[in-house]
Amino acid sequence: MTGKSTAVVGLQWGDEGKGKIVDVLAREHAAVVRYNGGANAGHSVVVNGERYALHLVPSGILFPGVKAVIGNGVVVDPEVLLAEIDNLEVRGVDTSGLVISSRAHVVMPYHKLEDRTREAAADSDGRKIGTTGRGIGPAYADKAQRFGAVRVCDLLDRDRLRRRVSEAARLKAGFLPAGAEELNVDALVDKAAAQGERLRHRVSDTTYLLNEIIDSGGRLLFEGANATLLDVDHGTYPFVTASNATVLGIGPGAGVSPTCIGRVLGVAKAYSTRVGSGPLPTEQNNDIGNRIRERGREYGTTTGRPRRVGWIDLVALRYSVMVNRVSALCVTLLDVLSGLDELKLCVAYRMGERVTDCFIPDGEELGKVEPVYETLPGFSHDITSARSMDELPGPARAYLDRIRSFAGIPIGLVSVGPERSQTISTGVARELESATA
Ligand code: IMP
Repeated sequence: MTGKSTAVVGLQWGDEGKGKIVDVLAREHAAVVRYNGGANAGHSVVVNGERYALHLVPSGILFPGVKAVIGNGVVVDPEVLLAEIDNLEVRGVDTSGLVISSRAHVVMPYHKLEDRTREAAADSDGRKIGTTGRGIGPAYADKAQRFGAVRVCDLLDRDRLRRRVSEAARLKAGFLPAGAEELNVDALVDKAAAQGERLRHRVSDTTYLLNEIIDSGGRLLFEGANATLLDVDHGTYPFVTASNATVLGIGPGAGVSPTCIGRVLGVAKAYSTRVGSGPLPTEQNNDIGNRIRERGREYGTTTGRPRRVGWIDLVALRYSVMVNRVSALCVTLLDVLSGLDELKLCVAYRMGERVTDCFIPDGEELGKVEPVYETLPGFSHDITSARSMDELPGPARAYLDRIRSFAGIPIGLVSVGPERSQTISTGVARELESATA
């Protein structure tokens, strides 16, 4: 387990199947660490045929001996977290390895109300983001504002908690519906303090914990939530989430220097999906899109919303590879594309007379582009039992090869089904590992 740490990050608009990749790698690491986002993320992991949908608990929890760490950059909804812990325990999972940063910020009930209220107001002028409604943006806004923000450590000290919640309630009374139960200070404090008591034994200074693991030769696996094109700084602003979902968020969100990261695995679906508003240049609002949605079960893990579906966007992918300095690609859900006559790959954007192969990280400008496609032949075989590149049909290999050559980096893993075993490893990910050990 010695050597440098690993980061796994989504390269598109989320739901790329990072959970499965983390699952494949978790055992080789001392801890799986979340550094951004909150209960807006949904990681599905299938272990021993059992499906676990995790929102806040890092998937390391499913592996005995691997710690699951919620870093300071995560916004924690104690209600969701406790329900998730209870659910894991009912299913016989040992949750003693779960550690929560004392400095992580807390999503309070009024943040969720604020999220819904803002979205409803934005709907009337076409500025709706289509958030998950989990209070993520408002919780990060309070963190940046430094007034009325509640941190996990505050849940453990009733007086401090009351001061913070009273400040927040005063501030928010101006724009939240009058008399809202979400602003009842006594009820909020009682509930949050009780949640704090249940979490107390799991709370610690995770910055020290993680750096001590590194100092003793252990490796960390950073599990990015949401995805690169939803990053608040590098995504399609304003149609983004409120945190740094790229690997760039690891330093501030976990208190670990980027010099500790030896390899960055970037996860991309073999096509594109997006939930909520914002541009998706290759969107297919047609039979092809519907077919991919049904075959890929493209419905949100967190909200159940049908995902928007499109062809793979190599311009966007190459941008995400650059921003994260990805070492190797993991291409997921390739099996979903089988049965299509042809496969399209977006290789440039057209805006009037102008054609560019550079991504446009701006929600409004990107909405104006028209994709320029290359077309490759499709494949009809069922590929879910392929375990090596040689077992894939020629057109599937050619498709992967075009992704590799456009992105300019090797492919380390290809996922051909939801099970852990339905994975093709090219050996690249392992070579990188020994190179960085
Ligand atoms: P928020 O993170 O709830 O504020 O939502 C902001 C945008 O990010 C919305 O379009 C969400 O649908 C999207 N989003 C946030 N987290 C995820 C994710 O894990 N997968 C896919 N979309 C997400």
